[in-house]
Amino acid sequence: MEEKIIDESKQGEALVLEPQAKNSRKLYIESYGCQMNFSDSEIVASILTKQGYNTTHNMEEADLVLVNTCSIRDKAEQTVRKRLEKYNAVKRNSNPNMKVGVLGCMAERLKSKFLEEEKIVDMVVGPDAYKDLPNLLQEVEEGRDAVNVILSKEETYGDIAPVRLGGNGVTAFVSITRGCDNMCTFCVVPFTRGRERSRDPQSIIEEVNDLAEKGYKEITLLGQNVDSYLWYGGGLKKDFKKATDMQKATAINFAGLLEMVANAQPKMRIRFSTSNPQDMTEDVLHSMAKHENICNYIHLPVQSGSTRVLKEMNRQHTREEYMELIDAIHRIIPDCAISQDMIAGFPTETEADHQDTLTLMEYVKYDFGFMFMYSERPGTMAARKLEDDVPEDVKKRRLTEIIDLQQEHSAYRTKQFVGKTLEVLIEKESKKNDQEWSGRTQYNTVAVFPKEHYEVGDFVMVKITDCTTATLLGEAVGYSKNQA
Ligand code: SAH
Ligand code: F3S
Repeated sequence: MEEKIIDESKQGEALVLEPQAKNSRKLYIESYGCQMNFSDSEIVASILTKQGYNTTHNMEEADLVLVNTCSIRDKAEQTVRKRLEKYNAVKRNSNPNMKVGVLGCMAERLKSKFLEEEKIVDMVVGPDAYKDLPNLLQEVEEGRDAVNVILSKEETYGDIAPVRLGGNGVTAFVSITRGCDNMCTFCVVPFTRGRERSRDPQSIIEEVNDLAEKGYKEITLLGQNVDSYLWYGGGLKKDFKKATDMQKATAINFAGLLEMVANAQPKMRIRFSTSNPQDMTEDVLHSMAKHENICNYIHLPVQSGSTRVLKEMNRQHTREEYMELIDAIHRIIPDCAISQDMIAGFPTETEADHQDTLTLMEYVKYDFGFMFMYSERPGTMAARKLEDDVPEDVKKRRLTEIIDLQQEHSAYRTKQFVGKTLEVLIEKESKKNDQEWSGRTQYNTVAVFPKEHYEVGDFVMVKITDCTTATLLGEAVGYSKNQA
C-alpha cells in the first residue's frame, strides 16, 4: 500500500490506442504516479497523434519513447531512473535511433539538469508545456536537445480532447484544476505543477457529454485540490481578488460545478479527487446528498492526527476541525465512505504525535488509505527548515502500525456490506477468475461476482455474500435502475 496509485497494474505499462492509418511514426509512452499524470498522458497522446504518431507496446520499434514522471517521493524518482537505464539498454542493443523524452514532475523539478545527469534523455518537458511538443520534437529531430519547463498561469488543456489510453471504456478521468497553492511543507507538487488554476466549466461539461456519448459510465473529476475549484473566466485562483464585480458574481465554485456535471449526465456516476479538508465546504456535501449519481465516497487526506504536526506541515486545520468535518460528512451523507493519505515520521513527529494519528484513525475508521513514510523533497519548506530527524527504523515501525490499523478498519468496513445488495458498475474481468466480473460500488469498494449474462459497463445489483479485507464477493440479482 506504500505508493499512492490508482491501479498498480497500470504503473509503467505502455499505453496504446487505436492506430491511425495515415500515421507512420511510433510512440511508446509510460506513466508513473498520480491519476493526473495518466490523464496528462492522454493529452500528450492526443497532441502527438496529430503529429503523425501511433502508439506501440513495443519499445524496440518506437521512434519516440516518453515517460511521464512522478517526484512525490524519492522512491518514485528512483523507479524512473531505473526505467531510463532500461531505455538506454534498448537503444544500445536494438533501437539506436529512438529518442527519449521526460515529461511530468521530475522534468519540472530537474529541468535541463536532466540532460546532464542522464545522457539518454533528448527532451525535457514540464506539465504545462505539452502544447509545445511539436516544436520541441522538431528541435530534437534537428539534433538539438530540447527543454520547456515553463509553468503557466492559464494552461488547463481545456481545448484538447484527450484520447483515452489503455482504459476499460467504462471509467475516465476529467481534469478540472491544475497546480496547487497550498504549500504543504513536505510537498513538491506546488513547485512542479505550479499555481492553481481552474478549467472552464463549459469545456468540462463538453468532455463529460462526449464521454457519455462514447459509452463511458463513470467519470472522476481530477485536481490536486478539487474543492478549491473556482472559475471566474480564467486565470490563477490567487488572482480572484482582482476579478471584476461581474466576474465575482458569476463565479462557479466546486459545489456549483458538481451540480452542473450531475445534471448534465444524471445516469453517469460522478467521483472526484482529491479533497483537501481545509477547502471542503458543506455545500459540496449537500450537492453530493442531493444527487444520487454523485458517489458517496470522499478521499480526504489528513497526513497526521496531531495538531502540532499538522501545523508544521502547513495544513490549514487542526485535528478537531478535521473531526468536525468527518461529523458533518456523516450527518449530511450517513453512508459516505472515506479514505485517507497518511505520512509516518514527518520531522519532529514524537511518539505522542504518532499516537494522535492512530486515535484519529480509530475515530474515523477509514474505508481504506494510502500510507507513506516521510520522504524529504529538495526545495520544499520542510527540507529547508526542518531536520529529517525521525530515524528510518522508527518511521518504518510507525508506518507498519498505521497500515496494520488501517487493515483492521478496512476489514471492519468491508464486513458491514455483507448481506446488503449494492449497485456495482462492471469494469473488467476479475484478475483471479476469468468466470467473474470485477467492478466497484459507489463507495469505491471492489466487488467480484460470477459473470452470467452481464457485460462490462453494466450497472448490476449484487447481493454481497462474503468478503476479504478489501474485496466484496457476491452474486448478481439483476440490473440496477441506472442500466440504460
Ligand atoms: N492533493 C494531492 C496530494 C498529492 S500528493 C492529491 O491529489 O492527492 C499525494 C500524497 O502523497 C499526499 O497526500 C501525501 O500523503 C503523500 N506525500 C506527499 N509528499 C510526500 C512526501 N514528501 N513524503 C511522503 N509522502 C508524501
Ligand atoms: Fe501537495 Fe498539499 Fe497541494 S499535499 S498537492 S501541497 S494540498
